[in-house]
Parts: sequence; structure tokens; C-alpha cells
Amino acid sequence: MKVSIIGTGYVGITTGACLAYLGHEVTCIDSDERKIALLRAGKTPIYEPFLTELLADAQRNLRYCTKYAGAIQDADVIFIAVGTPPLADGSPDLRYLSQAARGIGEHYAGDFVVVVNKSTVPIGSGNWVGSLVRESYEQHHGHKANGHFSVASNPEFLREGTALSDSLYPDRVVIGSDDERSLETLYSLYRPILDQTFAPPPYLPRPEEVGAVPLISTDLASAELIKYAANAFLALKISYINEIGQLAEKVGADIIQVAKGIGLDARIGTRFLQAGIGWGGSCFGKDTAALVSTATEYNLSMPIVAAAREINRRQRDRVVEKLLGELKILKGRSIGLLGLAFKPNTDDLREAPAIDIARKLIDRGCKVKVHDPVAMERFQQEYGDMGAVCCTTPEEVADDVDALVLVTEWQQYRELDWEALAAKMRSRIVLDGRNALDRARLTRFGFRYVGVAG
Ligand SMILES: NC(=O)c1ccc[n+]([C@@H]2O[C@H](COP(=O)([O-])OP(=O)(O)OC[C@H]3O[C@@H](n4cnc5c(N)ncnc54)[C@H](O)[C@@H]3O)[C@@H](O)[C@H]2O)c1
Repeated sequence: MKVSIIGTGYVGITTGACLAYLGHEVTCIDSDERKIALLRAGKTPIYEPFLTELLADAQRNLRYCTKYAGAIQDADVIFIAVGTPPLADGSPDLRYLSQAARGIGEHYAGDFVVVVNKSTVPIGSGNWVGSLVRESYEQHHGHKANGHFSVASNPEFLREGTALSDSLYPDRVVIGSDDERSLETLYSLYRPILDQTFAPPPYLPRPEEVGAVPLISTDLASAELIKYAANAFLALKISYINEIGQLAEKVGADIIQVAKGIGLDARIGTRFLQAGIGWGGSCFGKDTAALVSTATEYNLSMPIVAAAREINRRQRDRVVEKLLGELKILKGRSIGLLGLAFKPNTDDLREAPAIDIARKLIDRGCKVKVHDPVAMERFQQEYGDMGAVCCTTPEEVADDVDALVLVTEWQQYRELDWEALAAKMRSRIVLDGRNALDRARLTRFGFRYVGVAG
């Protein structure tokens, strides 16, 4: 099939690489010329494990463009995968979505195309995108758009860091549309994934337990709500364990054991029950805010989701409070942050706890030293003026600091020579923001080990 994808961010380029690998003819479009130039040169604009390899393997089925003209006119399916960042009131900024929809209407010239919202968009956006596409088509073509377009929702559930595996071997595929022909088209598009009939790339082997992938075929509004409801549920699972963690700390319980003890109940599950600094990233904060904002439009409140957000906000304050508790005075202290990305295996800094924590510490008069295995360049571009000292190694961060904070649980931080780091520090305090380090081992090296919960 001929597929065009608008937006080559984390979602768009992952979708493009996977569909091209499966044999579809894919054109990726992005208004950011720098991103398209990198992709044309065989490089990737984001850090995602195995993306370079998959793009290279699928190269013969991939094209990259900065303009809609010549990139979508005869597509069978057009994905919209542009950003939907939050506005100040929590509702998503739909300007990129609107530009994409109008661009499709202007440049599509075939008989029938399915326009797919892959961006996370508020409930009702499917109908809105449909009306924008048709309006723009009629304006530019001078005749009715009847029958040429159908809009579907195909929410994305990938996790950055494992985006390619999540896309090739998903837990489920959700397709929402009120039109039978769109459902059929998308079913054909995804068939190799649904039936798992493709040969896996050697670097992304099919997990043994993966069989046929369930398809949820539903109406537009339900598909749109599934995405928000899923993200809010994951976010509140994390906030729940963090709330329990606060009590665990007071009563002297071990939150890691508590999480294991409840998570092994199959009804609960162990994932997303790691107590720590809390969630970050481009999705949970934005999507929970959007859910609350949508509910408000219908005169509904969402106290559970709102509480999950508040607990998450507090976890970041707790890092500063804990450092204050240990050091008594923060002004003039030197604090090292290990990890900037919102989670390991990505360079994404959107709503990363490290940024918030660094700001709070700088505001209190601390010198803040930072390191991340892959996000340093992005940090310098986006937050270079914040006043943090960028270090090239964790050892450089440790040099002469009053405390180290593990903010992102990169595997390489777990494996550091902590004994050597201890020798470099002014005082041996480590705040394990992810409860990921070996407390007993660090204590042996003379560290005062402080967890975030429990
Ligand atoms: N990142 C994730 O883990 C994830 C997971 C699931 C869903 N989502 C959702 O998917 C959507 C995209 O997220 P992302 O993380 O890939 O965003 P992103 O910011 O990384 O990428 C968006 C891309 O769209 C491009 N763009 C913007 N307007 C454009 C236009 N009019 N024409 C062409 N290109 C345009 C931008 O230049 C950018 O490269 C969001 O709605 C997000 O909520 C993201």
C-alpha cells in the first residue's frame, strides 16, 4: 500500500520504519528541514535503539519530503503523527494537527484515502479533522470532497526506548472509524503485524510469547478515549505506588518488597509499580491534563486523575526536601544529577523530572552538575541557558559534589564503579531517585544511601 506519514518525530518515524519494513511504500513528511536532511543522510533525528538499522533495512520503501506536494497525492493511507503539546490550560495545542489536515485537503488528488489520526488528540478530533480536510479540499479543488476521505483513529501505544519492538509486536492494535471501508483498509495495512507473518529483523527478534495480535475495531470516539484512559491508568499506577511509598517510609516498610508483594497478584501486575521520582515524558503529563480538561467541558471532574497528577508533582519536590534534610543548607552546595532523559534509552527531555529538579536546586543557590549518556546534546540545545554544568562523564559529575542524585536509571549508572565515585565526592550522599541502586553495596563503600520512598 502507499502510505504517507506527516510528522517524523518519535511516533511518525517509528511507524514509517515499521510499515516500510513490512513492504509498504512509505513517504515521510516533516516541515522541519533539518530532520528530513538527517533522515536522507541515513541518520536519525532522535535516539531510539535500532532505528538506524531498521531505516537502513527498509530504505528501498522509504522516501523523505518536507512538502506535501508530491508526497500524498495518491496515498491509500495518510497518517497524522504531529505533536499535540499542552497549552497553558492543559488542553492540547491542535495547531499542527489543523495544518496537517488542511495540507492533506489541499494536496490529495486521488479517489479515496483514509486519513488516520495517530497523534493523541482530544475526543471528537476525528470529526474535526474530517471537516478541515474536506473544507480545504473543496477550497483548493473547486468541487465537493464527497467520498474521497474517511477519517480513522489509530492511537499509538509505543514506549520510547522500545518503540520498534512495541510497534512490531504490540499488545493490541486499536482502530476507530465510523466507516467500514476505512476499517478494511487499515486491517489490510496491519495484517502482517496482526497475524505476525513477517520475518523479524535479526536485531528485533519476535518475543516467544507473541502470537496473533488482538485488534480492537471500534468507533472514533472510543478509540480516542482508549488512548487517554490507558495513559491515565498507567500514570495513576505510578502515583499510587509513590503514595504508598510515602507511608512505607513513615512506618519503616520496604517499598520494593511491598510493590513486589502486591504486583505479583495477577489482577494488579508488577509493571509501573516502581516507586521513585515519578513519571515524565511527553505523554503522561499532557494526556492526563487533556483528560481532565475534556471532562471539564462536559461538567465532569476527574478527582482520581487529578490526584495522580498532584502526587507526581510532589515527588519532584521531595527530592529537594530530602537533599535539604541531609545537607541542612542548600545554598552554595554542589549537587550532581545522573540522568536527564525522562527515562532510560531515549534522549527525550519533554517534562523530564531532571529539568524540574535542576531548576529547583539552582533556584535555591546550588551548583548543579549534570550528565546523561545520550541526551547531553539535546540538553545543551534546549536548556543550555539554565546554568547547569554539563559533564562528559559520571566521574566528572561526582568530582567534589555534596550529593549525587540518580534521576534516570540508565543501566550504565547501575554498573558504575561507585567506590571510585565515592572517593571523588565532598560528602558521600547518594539519593536514589529510582530505587535502582544496590543499597547494601553502596553502604559498604561508605555512602549514606537515601531512597525516594521506603
Ligand atoms: N512520543 C511518544 O512516546 C508517544 C507515544 C504515543 C503517542 N504519542 C503522540 O503522538 C504524537 C506525536 O508525538 P511525537 O513524540 O512523535 O512528537 P514529536 O514532537 O517528536 O514529532 C512531531 C513532528 O511533527 C512535525 N510537524 C509538526 N507540524 C507539522 C506539519 N504541519 N507538517 C509536517 N510535520 C509537522 C514536527 O516537526 C515534528 O518532527 C503526539 O500527539 C503524542 O502525544 C507520542
